[in-house]
Amino acid sequence: MNRKALVGIIIIMSISLIGLLGVQFYWIRSASSVKEASFRRSVNEAMAKVVYKLERLEKWRAAEINPFPGMLSFNPHLDYSLFITPSEMDSLISLELNIRGVDTRYLFGIYKPELDLFILENSSDYRNQLIQKGYAYPLFSYDMFSTPEYLLIYFPYERQFLLTELWGMLLISIVLIVVIVYTFTYTITIMIRQKKISDMKSDFMNNMTHEFRTPISTIALACEALGDQEIPKSEKVYENYIHMIREENSRLSILSERILQASVLEKGQLKLQREQVDLHTVIRDVIKSIRIQVEIKDGVIHTNLKAKPSKLQGDKVHLTNLVYNLLDNATKYTPRKPEIRIRTENSGEGITLSVQDNGPGIPKQEQKKVFDKLYRIPTGNIHNVRGYGLGLSYVKAIVGEHHGKINIDSEISKGTSFKIYLPYKIPD
Ligand SMILES: Nc1ncnc2c1ncn2[C@@H]1O[C@H](COP(=O)(O)OP(=O)(O)O)[C@@H](O)[C@H]1O
Ligand SMILES: [Mg+2]
Repeated sequence: MNRKALVGIIIIMSISLIGLLGVQFYWIRSASSVKEASFRRSVNEAMAKVVYKLERLEKWRAAEINPFPGMLSFNPHLDYSLFITPSEMDSLISLELNIRGVDTRYLFGIYKPELDLFILENSSDYRNQLIQKGYAYPLFSYDMFSTPEYLLIYFPYERQFLLTELWGMLLISIVLIVVIVYTFTYTITIMIRQKKISDMKSDFMNNMTHEFRTPISTIALACEALGDQEIPKSEKVYENYIHMIREENSRLSILSERILQASVLEKGQLKLQREQVDLHTVIRDVIKSIRIQVEIKDGVIHTNLKAKPSKLQGDKVHLTNLVYNLLDNATKYTPRKPEIRIRTENSGEGITLSVQDNGPGIPKQEQKKVFDKLYRIPTGNIHNVRGYGLGLSYVKAIVGEHHGKINIDSEISKGTSFKIYLPYKIPD
């Protein structure tokens, strides 16, 4: 997939996600206003009923007290204390509210605005709120002799009550959105990484095919020349050709080692060939092939191979590459006079191998990252040194396959030491 398509997908997905968020937000808002309206309606209905019952109670009581009212029917309504108590009022209200599903704390009071007087209330602490934010219902509006009075009701937890009803929906939406955003970013990072890897792989393949050609044709030419009867061969000519073949051959083996490294790019490609491998022989072989590079830089390799027995179960090719990689890094990244120390010793049920150099060292914050695929430390002039950033991830993968452990110990401008533990026997 090319860059444009990737960017396109990211943009499209982001826009759809924002759109989705917007729609969600809109739905929740409209759901909450629907809830609010229905809450208001229920309260209105309940209170209309309360007002109706209250007025009827007053009529009955008035009829009881004065069965023949005559002209008195135009008198002001009875005093509340004559037909209802605050607690009766409370149960009347709570009954009507509960029937309509309004199940949250409320405060009520009967208020006469002209006298600024409260009667029949269930608490006197909330008078201000009752007046300012309460719902108001006129009482005895037909009674022309009394000053206007209102039944006020106020729900201190109205918002919370409406929210709890929406809470489940809100929560599910939030969870789903978080999940989508998370998987989205995760997918994108994987896509980007995958793209980087696949780019790098085709680069790698191109380079490789190119680099393979020269040694192969050189070796072919040398063989042809050696086999050709017509070319006179002195001892010197033989030497030359054989030297040539050897050189090209070692180039080929380095190339094949790099191809193996590329296998860490694809998980599951690493398959160990289990056999008994003498780690000391492996180390000595690698030293032989890398000695020239160290000597060119005026460096030395010290060995202190103490492990006994030095044989362990493993894959010889991969273990050789592992040691080669560590020595290669130690040589490559130490700018002058590398002093490399290789040690082995027994520890527990296996061998500990350590490779130490006197190079530039690896900063603490980079020490974990150097094992990542394609990672190269971005600072310093290290990039005069060629590499793909695959060596250490390969080493780590190999150590993992052998059920071993790898540790890094490094100090800036003092040097770096890699310690690798490999068990004698790979558990099944
Ligand atoms: N012995 C070392 N001393 C200093 N830096 C090192 C050493 N070994 C590895 N590094 C750093 O770790 C990075 C990753 O190493 P590696 O995976 O072998 O990749 P490559 O050698 O191809 O760059 C290197 O680019 C280098 O910056
Ligand atoms: Mg390397």
